[in-house]
Amino acid sequence: MSEAVSLPATIDATEALLLAHDYVPERELSTAVFLALRLQRPLFLEGEPGTGKTQIAKTLAEMLGRPLIRLQCHEGLDLAGAAYEWNYARQMLEIRLAEREQIDRAALTADLFSPRFLIQRALLQAIDPAQPVPPVLLIDELDRADEPFEAFLLEVLSDFQITIPELGTIKALQPPIVVLTSNRTREVHDAVKRRCLYHWVGFPDAARELEILARRVPQAPQALARQIVLFIQGLRRLDLYKLPGIAETIEWSRALLELDALVLDPATVNNTLGVLLKYQDDIAKVQGSEAARLLEQVHAATRV
Ligand SMILES: Nc1ncnc2c1ncn2[C@@H]1O[C@H](COP(=O)(O)OP(=O)(O)O)[C@@H](O)[C@H]1O
Ligand SMILES: [Mg+2]
Repeated sequence: MSEAVSLPATIDATEALLLAHDYVPERELSTAVFLALRLQRPLFLEGEPGTGKTQIAKTLAEMLGRPLIRLQCHEGLDLAGAAYEWNYARQMLEIRLAEREQIDRAALTADLFSPRFLIQRALLQAIDPAQPVPPVLLIDELDRADEPFEAFLLEVLSDFQITIPELGTIKALQPPIVVLTSNRTREVHDAVKRRCLYHWVGFPDAARELEILARRVPQAPQALARQIVLFIQGLRRLDLYKLPGIAETIEWSRALLELDALVLDPATVNNTLGVLLKYQDDIAKVQGSEAARLLEQVHAATRV
């Protein structure tokens, strides 16, 4: 891991640092990131899937030389999965040994609930005072966790500490950089949001998407990249169940390169729609005449 880098001093410096690590931010995001770093507040990013929310945490870790600790949220996630768990198997073993050695019961109990028997999960790791540099803590897709789980997070988000009943309160020496993401399949509770700076991550405009593509798939010829971006921007104006994100733009570009496509033509588009759209209803809606109409617009816009 590289050396920890000091925090950027201005919004411009934040933007430059993100760009230097191939993340193309909009001004509002650079501002939110800058403020989150300066004010030591968690950053809550909400938006459509594939718009660069998870990536921002990865890029922050990279550009600031911090380790990334990731908590992927899922249904049924609880304290034991997210923060800590007592190592029952080791505790049992210790009890057996203590019985044999006739160790005093009070001493044994105290020992059983010492850090030696504690299994650290992501949240506890992130605030462990023994961390040499404060890490980036990514709490990813919080909307997938059950609502009660959010209550566990409050103490971590506001005080960067966790209270373990048997052990006491564990607090970070220096707060970690915390990024929370949600794809908004449900609303996250106000109490969580209130502790964070909030930013909605929208789809990029054509210029920014082209810039992202130039950085993420540099081998794509410029003419093709423009057509790809314009076609996808057109798709996003349609009434579809799931609109393609930047992840899909990148994936489609790579697919088209694999197929040696130099320009978009109807056959190639129709045959590769599955890279962009993941619902049969959406594909059926676009395939054929709608795709032809979009392509027509793209060609009209790129004709010189
Ligand atoms: N602003 C951006 N600049 C550069 N790459 C981006 C940007 N936004 C998204 N990407 C790329 O798009 C892909 C999907 O992003 P991701 O962070 O996984 O989306 P999300 O977490 O919002 O679903 C990643 O490969 C990422 O590198
Ligand atoms: Mg994500």
